[in-house]
Formats: sequence, structure tokens, C-alpha cells
Amino acid sequence: MSARGGPMGGGRPGGNVPSWVGDGARPAQRGLLRRLVPYFRPYLWRTLATLGLMLVVTAAGLSVPALAQIGIDHGIQDKDKTVLAIVVGLFVVAGAVGWIAGLGQSYLASWVGERVLLDLREDTFRHLMDLELGYHERTPTGRSVSRLTSDIEALLQLVTDGVTSLVVNGLTLVGVVVILFLYDWRLALIAFVIFPPLALATAAFRVYSARRYRRVRERVADVLATLQESLSGIRVVQGFGRQESTSRRLAEANERYQQANYSTVRLSGLFFPGVEAMAGVATVVILYFGSQMVLDDALTVGVMVAFIGYLSSFFDPIQQLSQLYNTFQSAMAALEKILGVLETEPRLDDTPDAVDLPPIRGDIVLESVTFGYGDEPVIHDVDLSIAAGETLALVGPTGAGKSTIAKLIARFYDPDDGRVLVDGHDLRHVRQASLRGQMAVVPQEGHLFAGTLRDNVSFGRPDADDDDVRTALSAVGADFVDGLPDGLDTELSERGADLSAGQRQLVAFARALLTDPRVLVLDEATSSIDLRTEGRIEQVLAELMQGRTSVVIAHRLSTIVRADRIAVVDDGRIVEYGTHDQLIGVPGGRYARLYGAWLATAA
Ligand SMILES: Nc1ncnc2c1ncn2[C@@H]1O[C@H](COP(=O)(O)OP(=O)(O)OP(=O)(O)O)[C@@H](O)[C@H]1O
Ligand SMILES: [Mg+2]
Repeated sequence: MSARGGPMGGGRPGGNVPSWVGDGARPAQRGLLRRLVPYFRPYLWRTLATLGLMLVVTAAGLSVPALAQIGIDHGIQDKDKTVLAIVVGLFVVAGAVGWIAGLGQSYLASWVGERVLLDLREDTFRHLMDLELGYHERTPTGRSVSRLTSDIEALLQLVTDGVTSLVVNGLTLVGVVVILFLYDWRLALIAFVIFPPLALATAAFRVYSARRYRRVRERVADVLATLQESLSGIRVVQGFGRQESTSRRLAEANERYQQANYSTVRLSGLFFPGVEAMAGVATVVILYFGSQMVLDDALTVGVMVAFIGYLSSFFDPIQQLSQLYNTFQSAMAALEKILGVLETEPRLDDTPDAVDLPPIRGDIVLESVTFGYGDEPVIHDVDLSIAAGETLALVGPTGAGKSTIAKLIARFYDPDDGRVLVDGHDLRHVRQASLRGQMAVVPQEGHLFAGTLRDNVSFGRPDADDDDVRTALSAVGADFVDGLPDGLDTELSERGADLSAGQRQLVAFARALLTDPRVLVLDEATSSIDLRTEGRIEQVLAELMQGRTSVVIAHRLSTIVRADRIAVVDDGRIVEYGTHDQLIGVPGGRYARLYGAWLATAA
């Protein structure tokens, strides 16, 4: 029985689902597959049944030439119709058993394979959810997505078709060799003179094809990366009228992919017919020597026919196993990358001694905090303290480190040096869930999920009822809701394409407000709101911050002026700190100059 996905795929990489991006396949490692074993455990009986059925399929296939031998030698030669009838009956039985076992086996193999890989995908996804923000900022989304899609697919290919092919063809190969030697070792030896060149050709094919298939995988990755990049940047592409050149870039990547692909086709075109030719040679050799032996009465006709039958079922598995090697390689590359994700330890995992943060007042203190995304610190020895209920505005030039400070306060990162304290609790020793429940972060881009408006607003508090949701929306002045066709039930698309940037921002405010946080962190959240709404938003923000500790990264004067304290950040340091009145009084001070410039533009 042949594996689906066939041996003579002519080198089409259909089976080799790409595993992009970039990170090339390293040689398959021992023990890698062992890591998959626990995933099979829940389906142990079905897995064993699959293997059992594979044995049946193999045995049924191997019995056919032997039956022919018996039919010829004991039925035809001995003119015994009973034997012939029995043999024909067994033929039918072997065919039927092989067919039914094959059906059951491929059904079970797919069932188990799909379950196992769904489990693996869910585990990997859950793990990705737990990995700290830093991991996701370092890793392109496309790469994480391909771990969960194309890499899983490549593994699925191996676990279902690949394992079937490996077991059935491997057993057939061994079975044929054993049977041939049992029949007649001299003839078997003669048949296997073909073995050294065959082994050589197969080894060469493995080496060359591995290289070429790897190139195919890399080039497919290029194509996908180009596609993803261009489509996600479509606004810029169209805005600058670069459709033509972007399409050309894709065409070039496509062309390179096609060439890589073609080189595997050429190789397969050389190898597979080559194996066929050797099979032909072996058959001729057996026919020649075999018939000599038959004439000398050293061999029966039946055995000779069986020999030829077995020989052809010897070459078929060779071809299939050679092809399987590529499936195996891509699957190993994929598995290695998936395990790479699973083995990445979440850096912000709760320590064993972490405690639940009690209901907080909202005192925040940064104690000589130094932090860098890589080796170079971007925050240098920052001290900062925000009293409960106060609003701190962070201002400063782009790239100064404002967002980074906000991320440290929200504990998306831990400082490399120093401490961040909330009500005197070092955030490192606090259970994250207990912190998140009391703090709301509104990032610059108000992200919306696919789902209804209600789901989006109640994201942080799923048990909120419609009244709560409406109250939160009207509190932030999101009156556009009344104009929506289905009100709270309006379906929003993933990117919130049907809401304006400002409207998305209001939804993000409502989402934060609904969780009634003690600490509010707003990163430039007000910048995309139109002027009319802005006056309104000022009030809303004031209300939102009322009685809460708030850290606001603001670019607009009105917000900054209203803050209790202002910290001017530059190059990762707090260069000025105080109230608005204090800071404008500093002669030649940074804030005083900024303020002067603002006033000038406002006038
Ligand atoms: N995820 C990241 N990985 C590596 N470096 C980063 C990352 N985010 C920010 N940086 C670097 O850290 C420094 C501070 O960045 P940050 O985002 O805190 O600036 P910012 O003050 O918020 O600027 P802006 O006003 O433009 O938002 C910059 O030099 C930036 O290049
Ligand atoms: Mg920023």
C-alpha cells in the first residue's frame, strides 16, 4: 500500500509546507521526536491500533506473490483445482483485508495525527499568550503565526502520511529481503548485486534533494514574507503609488521560488526513472538466471514468478522512502521551531514566592531604575514617585523613553536594576493577575478584536452587563454608538476598520474605565481625537483620572498643564520634575522652553 501524497510527486513541494521566516532548517536532532510522545499518550489505543493495522496492510501486500507461487507450483503444475480454488480465495481475502485495513489505518492515522497536532497548536498558542510582551516585540507576528500554521501542517504531514509510509514501506522492504533469502539464497544474492549502485544512488539523492528542498522552503518563505509585508503595508504602497514595483518584487521572489522548485523536479526526474531502470535490470537478471535454474530443475516456476513479484515490491518502497526523507526534513525543521517556542521560558513568570497584591491605593515609586531592551540601557537610573490619586505627565522628545517608563510601571518588563514599587510592593514579587486587575493600560493604538462592540468594551470585565457597558461608553463621550445600526451588537472587524481612529480610542477608554482601575496608564492616547471631541475628551480624561493614580504620556498642552506633576524625559533620564508652575519658572529650563514653543504655536 502506498502512502498518500505519493512517491512520484515529481518533486512538487506540495508536501513540504513552508516553514518561514529566515531561520533555516538545522539538521534533525535525535530526541526531537521523543518530545512528541506525550502528545500521543491520550490517544494510545488508537495509535496502537493504527500501528497494528499497518502490520496487517503490509502482511496482506507481502502475501500476494507467495500466493502466486503456491498457485503456480501446487495448483497449475500439480493440476490440483482444489489448491487453485483455495489460492484464488485467499487472494480475494488478502485483497479485501488489505483494503479494509488500509481504510481503517488511514482514517485512524489522520484522526490521531490531527488530534495530536491540534493539541500541540493549542499548547503552543497558550504558551505564546504567556510569553512576556518583550518576546512579542522582538518576534515578527508572521513568524509566530507560521509556528502555529505551516509548521503544524508540516508536522501533520509527517505524523499521518509520513509515519504510515515509513512503517509500511520499511516493513515491506525488510520483509521482501527476508522472504527472498528464504526462498532461494543464491538467486537472492544475484538479485541484490543491484544493491550497491541502488544504495549509492539513494544516498546521493538524499544529500542533493535535502539541499534543494531546503532552498525551496527558504524561497517559499521569501514569497510569503513579501506577500505579508506588502499586504500589511498596502496603505503605504498605494499612497506612494508603488504597486508596480511591489508586484515586481513579488514576481522576482516567485521566480526564484520556481527555479528552486524546478531544480528538485530535475533531480527527481533523474532519480526515480533511474530506480525504475535498476528495477528493470534486476528483473532481467532474475529472468535470465532464474529460467536457467528452472530448466536445471533447481527452481520452480512459481518461485521465479514470486521473486519477480517481490522485486517490484522492493523498488517501490525505496522510491517512497526517498521521497519521505524530504517530508521528514521539513517536519523536523518545523518541530524544532515549535519546540523552540515551547522551550522559551516566560521571563515575567510569577515567582514561587509571589503574593497577591491587596486592593491598592496607588502609590507608585521607581527606585533607581535602569532598563534596556537589549544590552544598551535606554532608561538610566530613574527615580520617580507618584502619590496615590495623582496624575503624572511624561513629556519629552521622541525616543526619550516615555513609553518605556510606562511599560515598566505596568510591568510589561522588569527593570535590569532598581525596583518598581506599588504601595511599597516590589512588582517582581507580586502575582501578575492581581496587578492587572487593578491597573488599566491604554496603548496608543486602540486595538479592537473581531466581535461585537459590547465584547470589545467588556474585554477586561467580561461579566459586565449592558448597562455598565453603556455607562462606560457614555462616560467617555462615545455618542457615535447611537448611530450604529446594531448598537452594542454591532460587529467590529479585527482591525476596527469600520471605526475611525478616534472612535477606536474612545472604545479603548471605555474598556479601561469599565475595569475601574486604581492605576491608569495612558500612552499618547489622546492624540488621534478630533478637535470637537477633544474638548469633551479633556473633561472625560479629567473624570477618568479623578481619584486614580494616572501616568499620562501626553503631547497636548491641556492635558499636561492639568497634571499634578510633570516629568521631562530625555535620553532615558528624568531631566526636570515638578508642577507646571514650578517648571515654567525654571530659567532656560527644558519645560519652560517647550511651553514657550507651544504657546507660540497656539497663538
Ligand atoms: N521593543 C523595543 N525593542 C528595542 N528597543 C526599543 C523598543 N522600544 C523602544 N526601544 C528603544 O528605546 C528607546 C525609548 O523608546 P520609547 O518608546 O520609550 O520612546 P518614547 O519616549 O515613548 O518615544 P515616542 O514619543 O516617539 O513614543 C528608543 O531609543 C527606542 O529605539
Ligand atoms: Mg512612545
